[in-house]
Amino acid sequence: MNSAEIRKRWLDFFESGNRQGLNHAVVPSASLILNDPNLLLVNAGMVPFKPYFLGELPPPYPRATSVQKCVRTLDIDEVGKTTRHASFFQMCGNFSFGDYFKEGAISLAWELLTRSQSDGGFGFDPARLWVTVYLDDDEAADIWHKQVGVPKDRIQRRGMADNFWSMGVPGPCGPCSEIYFDRGPEYGRDGGPVADEDRYLEIWNLVFMQNLRGDGPGKEGYPILGELPAKNIDTGLGLERTAALLQGVDNIYEIDTTSIILRKASELTGVAYGLEEKSDVSLRVIADHARTAAMLIGDGVTPGNEGRGYVLRRMMRRVVRNMRILGSAEPTLVELIKSSIEAMSPQYPELRSDRERIEAVTANEEGTFLETLRSGTNIFDLAAESMKKSGAKVLPATDLFMLHDTYGFPFDLTLEMATEKGLAVDEAGFRQLMREQKERAKADAKAKKSGHTDLSEYRKILESGKSSEFIGYQSTSGEASILAIVSDGQSVQG
Ligand code: ALA
Repeated sequence: MNSAEIRKRWLDFFESGNRQGLNHAVVPSASLILNDPNLLLVNAGMVPFKPYFLGELPPPYPRATSVQKCVRTLDIDEVGKTTRHASFFQMCGNFSFGDYFKEGAISLAWELLTRSQSDGGFGFDPARLWVTVYLDDDEAADIWHKQVGVPKDRIQRRGMADNFWSMGVPGPCGPCSEIYFDRGPEYGRDGGPVADEDRYLEIWNLVFMQNLRGDGPGKEGYPILGELPAKNIDTGLGLERTAALLQGVDNIYEIDTTSIILRKASELTGVAYGLEEKSDVSLRVIADHARTAAMLIGDGVTPGNEGRGYVLRRMMRRVVRNMRILGSAEPTLVELIKSSIEAMSPQYPELRSDRERIEAVTANEEGTFLETLRSGTNIFDLAAESMKKSGAKVLPATDLFMLHDTYGFPFDLTLEMATEKGLAVDEAGFRQLMREQKERAKADAKAKKSGHTDLSEYRKILESGKSSEFIGYQSTSGEASILAIVSDGQSVQG
């Protein structure tokens, strides 16, 4: 079943299924750069619906469904090394805003997954599905066992890190229940998802969105502030993972859409996929990042040195760099972006109409970077050569800093190249020089902004009783008065 068909079946099922009463509003994917000051890029299907979960806006519909484009860059270094991670993916979601809850979400998920393909479903064998629930969520465990009929030994309980979902920042959250597909003993050991997440592949996460979380680190270190105004449902099924299973291929890099780009990288470098792990990792990084870059540029991101622009620049540079590792020093990024557009435009036709602009942005960035690479690589080679002669094994911080600061050579590339040559780097010294430079830059009024906005000052203003109302969904103009002014994270007098 190709990716477009999976998407269509998903939306059709939740819009009406084969029965009356499902009635989910079909909502098109939002842009990847939806405006949320604490979120660089849309990273889950629920992001556009956040105001409804929080009760900030009345939901225009009680139920919705979407296939949302998402970018996650937190584990960018894992991309390609494992075949489970990708920086771009599409999340199929169904959402209830104070409408159905655990029972509805669980029974709908089971129905779509196990309904036969000839009847519009995905046709998964129920005997190969496993589920997890949050530690004390007896209610969900009971629904799975008593109503759906999943045997008790295929229902596992997991703690906060695995079975409690939030966006990673203050906002809506809740316990979740995940559905896994057992790919069989050739993929790993017995024992269910708690034992092996390569063999038992997570395909669908059902979040019982009922709490509000505060600030705090990681997946467990934040406080639960209370209940949301209503009990909601937010689910996410990974389209690419589902496609891998339904297309009978090994992983998300081999599905219909991704393999177009991967094949192009192979063709351009003359390196076949599946020969050896090291070149396979490079080919996967290239395919993944080229596609993400095309999607980001399509949504209006341009390469730059901070925030989203930096995410994009880093991806494009990693593509160029990996193409070089595979032996292609020629400009090829535009070709790879063209393949990405070809792969993704059946689902996102705007990529085709915007093709010229996307290609022009790409060509420009690649040209600049190849120039940087040329000068940076020469300097790196000279430094490495002189170290070899002197017998030193650690690249000094001053060289690292010069490469970065004077030649714009990305530090992660320096690291990679050093590793390839078996050299260590004085990273601590480099970071110290960077800190010193930052201090100097602070004197400059144009201190760089980061992608994450410190909202504490805004919170203080809200806590002092001032509030504002967002009316952009109802009208495009209106009267307003200024309640406060925040500059560089501090309140200032007007
Ligand atoms: N929001 C949930 C997730 O991203 C469904 O996994």
